[in-house]
Amino acid sequence: TGHLLSAADLDAAAATQVLDTAAELAALSDRSVKKLPTLRGRTVVNLFYEDSTRTRISFEAAAKRLSADVINFSVKGSSVSKGESLKDTALTLQAMGADAVVIRHAASGAPHRLARWVDGSVVNAGDGTHEHPTQALLDAYTMRSRLGRLSGLTVAIVGDVLHSRVARSNALLLNTLGADVTLVGPPTLLPVGVDSWPVKTSYDLDAVLPTVDVVMALRVQRERMEDSFFPSAREYARRYGLDAARLRKLPEHAIVMHPGPMNRGMEIAPDVADSPRSTIVEQVANGVSVRMAVLYLLLGGQV
Ligand code: CP
Repeated sequence: TGHLLSAADLDAAAATQVLDTAAELAALSDRSVKKLPTLRGRTVVNLFYEDSTRTRISFEAAAKRLSADVINFSVKGSSVSKGESLKDTALTLQAMGADAVVIRHAASGAPHRLARWVDGSVVNAGDGTHEHPTQALLDAYTMRSRLGRLSGLTVAIVGDVLHSRVARSNALLLNTLGADVTLVGPPTLLPVGVDSWPVKTSYDLDAVLPTVDVVMALRVQRERMEDSFFPSAREYARRYGLDAARLRKLPEHAIVMHPGPMNRGMEIAPDVADSPRSTIVEQVANGVSVRMAVLYLLLGGQV
């Protein structure tokens, strides 16, 4: 059984196959073919131990558009409150015949452990500060659809890289697909060991902006920091926030991305988030097509 645990699981051919399949599925949807019979009789379980709006809803929409049966498991209201372990929860899902389990968990590595305990495909929907591979795929899809290519693009990923699974998965996938990535942020929010990532780094956002095709702001993740380390919104915005003045430093064609949820007024100003250069809402829409492609390819459905 195939899994999608890390962006590093995908070589360039496999990643391009996901993006091309997503584009075909999006074209069907544009032609009002909203529902395909592809995964009829298959069961997809959404197992979310951490909060989510976009990822959970788009996996549910994706599975339903492929006619799969969807079980949404949320920890609140489950026997996890009685101390049930991830392993016992996994064995329960296994007994119910899950063909795919989409998991989000606060512990880095939880999807890898789950993959040892269930027979179905496991999809990592975000594990701790580690990875979020379907976010990287939908981001790559959005860049390719807006800018026409990925190879040779220059992408700046800005802000709280330290706590960001989105940054790590994007760095890995974009490198595989031939883009150049620069991580930009204060020294305290760049991870130790970033030297081993396939990226450049910079502390100076204003110097980087004129050189990029894409600038991606990351959410400052208050829930993963001690309160005393959480920067003031005003101070952070002054150094690393995307505001109207910084937007003017970008090349004419460059786009502005954010995975959501946003701290408006901190890493991104409201007028930038809502500007025509912003792809934030498009990223969410593309997430459904990309997740349809992932489920379709993993579960081997036939169109
Ligand atoms: N981008 C993202 O993963 O958003 P959610 O946390 O709302 O799923």
